[in-house]
Amino acid sequence: MEESVMLLTILLLLPVILSCLSWRNQMKRPHNGPKLPPGSMGWPFFGETLKLYSQNPSIFFGTRHQRYGDIFKTNIHGSPCVMLTCPEAARFVLVTEAHRFKPSYPQSKERLIGPWAIFFHGGEFHTRMRKLVQGSLSLDAVRTMVPLIEAVAVNTLESCCSGGGLAVNTFHEMKKFTFEVAVLSIFGKLESGYKDKLKDNFFTLDRGYNCFPINLPGTAYRRALLARRRLGKILREIVSEKREKRLTEKNLLSSLLNYHDHQDGQILTDDQIADNIIGVLFAAQDTTASALTWVIKYIHDYPLLRDAIREEQKTIYESNDGGNRPLTWAQTRNMPYTYKVVMESLRMASIISYTYREAVEDVIYNGVLIPKGWKVLPLFRIIHHNPNFFIDPEKFNPSRFEVAQKPNTFVPFGNGVHSCPGNEVAKLEILVFIHHLVNKFRWEVVGPKNGVEYDPFPVPKKGLPAKFLKDS
Ligand code: HEM
Repeated sequence: MEESVMLLTILLLLPVILSCLSWRNQMKRPHNGPKLPPGSMGWPFFGETLKLYSQNPSIFFGTRHQRYGDIFKTNIHGSPCVMLTCPEAARFVLVTEAHRFKPSYPQSKERLIGPWAIFFHGGEFHTRMRKLVQGSLSLDAVRTMVPLIEAVAVNTLESCCSGGGLAVNTFHEMKKFTFEVAVLSIFGKLESGYKDKLKDNFFTLDRGYNCFPINLPGTAYRRALLARRRLGKILREIVSEKREKRLTEKNLLSSLLNYHDHQDGQILTDDQIADNIIGVLFAAQDTTASALTWVIKYIHDYPLLRDAIREEQKTIYESNDGGNRPLTWAQTRNMPYTYKVVMESLRMASIISYTYREAVEDVIYNGVLIPKGWKVLPLFRIIHHNPNFFIDPEKFNPSRFEVAQKPNTFVPFGNGVHSCPGNEVAKLEILVFIHHLVNKFRWEVVGPKNGVEYDPFPVPKKGLPAKFLKDS
């Protein structure tokens, strides 16, 4: 009995002991040669993870930036990390020396999305997938989507009003909108039976993505894993149906289905196709919904800005015979003031606050050592709020976008080989939505005016509860 208690104690303590040893090793770097960046590694095993979760991430990173400078070390999620807060260092990792850093995501997340998804890969497989994804989201492909996006935007707004003035959670409503648009860019028109099944399961997966990843009955993570399995099955059905039909349409699914390697003729497997579809859905939905929710909040909070946007959008609306003719692509490319508001919202909210890479070898940057295996996090949010690049950075000021920004200081869609291939769709859907919102609807925020939640992207507190009403 005593022996088994001892064994159990050793087993329970083993991860802590191992992590203390690895923590000691991290601290024991040779004295000569390049030095690790300044910073604190926190406690053995926990690092600074608890501190990160107990405060607003902007404050966590901001205070360390002030204390240690542009490059500092920490330990979060069980990994030693180097944080980068200057544009040059972010460019070094994401663009010029990108081959020395690989994408790095926790395994629990990879299991939910699927290991073949584009953003988990580098090298040749990434280049191949990137061509397919980028091609299906290119300007030529996106311009054909204007009338489809318009119809979804109007439907979403009508549904926000359907409660007869009852408040809705704006972020949740925007997620429904961005899901529909993502489905359009992936599948073109998709049968509503398939779409509903995809939606139910995808939303369950999304809810489990940021939960603690324990696979036990009743946990959100387990529900998400089960939903992922069902999503795989639905996608395999769609794929086999479409394979038979030999598609000629221009969308992501048909690009993935029609792909074959020029040298060995290999095609993509059903799993590779499914993981990439779920990956793109995932990359597209919450990011754009969060951005749109912030745009709606800022337009609401600044009446002068709202008037200027209304004026710009009214002119377009009237030139379309009071909205009787559809918006054109050219019109969506000529909304200069609204566009600046969207850019400033992306800067202020910095939806993707940071991204992760991992050093594949020891790397020296400006005399500082980034050891092999350490995570590297370019902190976009800190760059976007640095007064050296954006004067009075906490002030919402769209006019700062009247002039070009300093290179690499405005990177809401990332930079380099993994930068966002969906940025044109994202901007288009936001502009089309705002066009209809300000021309035909009114809205009033009824919940907390300030505060941010992380879901995992920053969202106004409680998802920005608001009442939407249609102008008669
Ligand atoms: C406002 C909305 C959006 C924001 C702020 C955003 C931001 C980003 C950022 C910063 C990255 C780079 C991440 C990294 O370097 O690790 C990224 C990658 C990606 N985004 Fe977006 N995104 C948005 C919307 C979309 C949309 C609408 C789609 C698809 C329709 C999309 C698809 C992707 C994909 C597939 C990747 C991975 C690319 C790769 O690994 O090569 N995103 N996004």
